[in-house]
Amino acid sequence: MKPFETNSWKKIKTYFKTIKNNRILTNFEQPEHLKTFTFDFNGIYFDFSKHRWDIEMLKYFVGFAEEIQTRQAIEAMFTGQIINKTEQRAVLHTALRQSDDKPVVVNGENIIPEIRKAEEQLKSFTQKVISGQWKGLTGKSITDVVNIGIGGSDLGPKMVVKALSDYRNHLNIHFLSNIDPFELDQLLNEINLETTLFVIVSKSFSTQETLTNARNVQKIYIKQFGKKAIAKHFVTVSTQLDKAHAFGIEPENIFPMWDWVGGRYSLWSPAGIAIPLAIGYDNFQKLKSGAYDMDKHFRSEAFYQNLPVIAAFLTVLYNNLYDFETEAYIPYTDKLQYLPDFLQQLIMESNGKSTTLSNERIAWQTGNIVWGNIGTNAQHSFFQLLHQGTKIVPVNFIAEKHNRNTKFENNHKILLANMVAQAEALMIGDTNDVPYKNFEGDRPSTTILLDEITPESLGSLLAYYEHKTFTEAWLWQINAFDQFGVELGKRLVNRIIEDLNKLTHPHDVSTKALIKQIIAK
Ligand code: F6P
Repeated sequence: MKPFETNSWKKIKTYFKTIKNNRILTNFEQPEHLKTFTFDFNGIYFDFSKHRWDIEMLKYFVGFAEEIQTRQAIEAMFTGQIINKTEQRAVLHTALRQSDDKPVVVNGENIIPEIRKAEEQLKSFTQKVISGQWKGLTGKSITDVVNIGIGGSDLGPKMVVKALSDYRNHLNIHFLSNIDPFELDQLLNEINLETTLFVIVSKSFSTQETLTNARNVQKIYIKQFGKKAIAKHFVTVSTQLDKAHAFGIEPENIFPMWDWVGGRYSLWSPAGIAIPLAIGYDNFQKLKSGAYDMDKHFRSEAFYQNLPVIAAFLTVLYNNLYDFETEAYIPYTDKLQYLPDFLQQLIMESNGKSTTLSNERIAWQTGNIVWGNIGTNAQHSFFQLLHQGTKIVPVNFIAEKHNRNTKFENNHKILLANMVAQAEALMIGDTNDVPYKNFEGDRPSTTILLDEITPESLGSLLAYYEHKTFTEAWLWQINAFDQFGVELGKRLVNRIIEDLNKLTHPHDVSTKALIKQIIAK
């Protein structure tokens, strides 16, 4: 299917010509504009009104989504069909947060019972660690947990643990991801080996960074305490039971992963283990139940008021009609400091593709570039470009209305005022005869205001982004769930590691010179 050759897309293109020079502000002359583009979802306010589109355009996009059978695509995902065709896998992170036991069948087998079994295993384990019942080799309770993992086995849990800081217990949670020894050296200065538990999170149990770091720590334990320390200080989450067992981890401390959960969609699975360790198992369940609420909304709501679908329409509007190539995510809360990092993997690893679902070279733009940082800090760095640069960047503002745990309520008010002011400034601009003082305005933004960051509201927000990503992929007719683009570098690095000892492999001239630089005495 070629989405941009459909009749409904032709209508969008024609209508685009009539609205593309309209100012955003004029849209509000339509009495229904604000109402059409703002939503309240379980205490989360979504504002899509400050965009370069109008109600008519939304209707055209709904027609487009319908013509290319988006509803059927959503159903295919939820019902466990093999939609990740290149890897021949179903895509069922949604099954992980389903609270009822309605069967979800993959290759003829209902996966809900094994999900429940893994939940029980995770619940009992995390309770033991939190309560102090789990002892290290020398009989001491655990004070520190180190999550060793990278990509989806790091970014999601790390982001959630920080976002839900208000719900944290006494455990110190660390995240070790990079192969750069700087991180590991520093970490080893901070922890007491006797009271630390290492959680190796690796779906494949073969990721170079994760396994190298895990083996480094394993050696330290064996040297200091002997082999029997491994079972007391290491657990793992992986699909590779044999490899994990060979590492020295007891079978009951190997938590499952499944090939129907992609790494970047896996924080809801045992791969999110750092989350229940940090905030308790009940709160982890609440996170999932918030996501489930968004799942139900996405699956059943009409497209003209379906939040992830509307957000995906906007990305396609900007990417494929306005030619805006990037979108910024600016959380006005330090709690969501790692949200831009998480979204970079979620969106760009999913949608940075140039092959269609029918395995042809794509003829249209896909996967836009995602970046961002927290406000107000970002205002004092790159916002200059957002306001007066030659490039237009649609901005996503995210904040919580109440920060109940702060003693500095006034700071929080100022923080929110700044966010609202930035969105307003971007849209309305300010005319000045002196060119460098002129603000053209008309720069679009979405604002998402959570009543409060709770496990439930965060769960809904993250599921919203996941479904937005999937919908975009469908509109572009690409597979959001594979990541072959990371393979070539992984392959080449092994040759180069060998070359750093003795240069034997052939390389291009520039690469060879670089290797020589590194090995030069
Ligand atoms: O290299 C990319 C990637 O495969 C990601 O998709 C994944 O989240 C990450 O590496 C970690 O993979 P694993 O959990 O198998 O170690």
